[in-house]
Amino acid sequence: MKKIFITGGAGFIGSAFIHQILEESSDIEVINFDALTYAGNPENLKGLDETRHKFVKGDICDKDAVLNALPADAEAVFNFAAESHVDRSITSASEFVTTNVLGTQVLLDAARARNVKRFVHISTDEVMGSLPDESNLYFTELSPLKPNSPYAASKAAAEHFVRAARETFGLDTVITRCGNNYGPRQFPEKLIPLMIANAMNDEALPVYGDGRNVRDWIYVEDHARAIWLAFERGKSGEVYNIGARNEQFNIDVVKAILDLLGKPHSLIKFVADRLGHDRRYAIEAEKSETELGWKPQTDWEDGLRKTIRWYQENQDWVERIRNGAYRDYYKKMYGASLK
Ligand code: NAD
Ligand code: DAU
Repeated sequence: MKKIFITGGAGFIGSAFIHQILEESSDIEVINFDALTYAGNPENLKGLDETRHKFVKGDICDKDAVLNALPADAEAVFNFAAESHVDRSITSASEFVTTNVLGTQVLLDAARARNVKRFVHISTDEVMGSLPDESNLYFTELSPLKPNSPYAASKAAAEHFVRAARETFGLDTVITRCGNNYGPRQFPEKLIPLMIANAMNDEALPVYGDGRNVRDWIYVEDHARAIWLAFERGKSGEVYNIGARNEQFNIDVVKAILDLLGKPHSLIKFVADRLGHDRRYAIEAEKSETELGWKPQTDWEDGLRKTIRWYQENQDWVERIRNGAYRDYYKKMYGASLK
């Protein structure tokens, strides 16, 4: 059995990655190290082959806990763990610095101490800032790092520490930078699951600003596949952008969700804009396509349909979140109470 150490595996993308890896291979054993913050959910791990999945509750900033859990013969560390929501980073940035920067450094040190063969760091296109409206400019791996939100700044800082671990100590590292993911099990603070959950409950759908910010959407399983290929085929020290060439205006995403659910557009409510709101993300993924032999497999319409179906079939999952601490978060964030 090959051992891989995954941080943040109870979250949205980490859990999708683990489901995919364990389904598609028989010689991989996963150690899933996750602090179970508000975004981590043990329910996301239901159905995994428990003989090859070991869950360890722990914080990536806790050096001893990481060293205890990380086996010396690990093939790789996949670092998904992060504070991941831009709006929360605007309200309070320090948790983002702690987990995303310090936590990454703790993992890098531990990976060296345990002779881990490769460190795969899951970063984001947001480190490259914002592109102008409807231009023909795209993020490439050579785009300068120009983070605009505290979240993006913490992810950019983490990337620098990953690079430094390779340049200084020779740790084998690969960084992936993906755009906006959507799919099953995404916490409903993010655009798509928030809009699906509100629409299903006939609640207002809060669209920031003019709704014409652009995001480049990718189905989570396509992202997970690209990360695995970056591990298997990526060159040490390289960065790989991951994107499905699927730019959408926010307002069009929200209307598409309402249409698929058969709900009226009158549920849309334009609200105050996000501070420092990045206008447009658009990824040139040619390097991943050619060097990793990766291509996205799920188109936007199918992916959105599958995602909506998952939320319809898993209303208990959504309601358990909406009935917990999320209610207070929503009230503070949107100034409105959920039904
Ligand atoms: P998420 O918020 O759904 O999950 C984060 C997970 O990390 C949770 O399970 C949480 O419990 C865990 N975690 C948080 N702090 C921790 C700590 N200190 N120690 C251990 N575990 C901790 O996030 P996600 O959307 O699945 O994103 C995963 C990664 O992918 C992040 O690094 C994020 O920056 C990156 N990313 C996300 C997207 C996206 O669209 N969601 C796009 C590109 C990159
Ligand atoms: O691009 C990758 C990034 O995508 C990841 O690194 C982040 O972890 C992930 O959260 C995501 O960041 P965004 O800020 O783009 O995602 P979010 O879902 O929060 O918002 C998407 C767009 O929708 C953005 O333009 C803001 C807007 N929005 C969001 C919310 C939550 C609204 O209009 N209303 C809302 O209520």
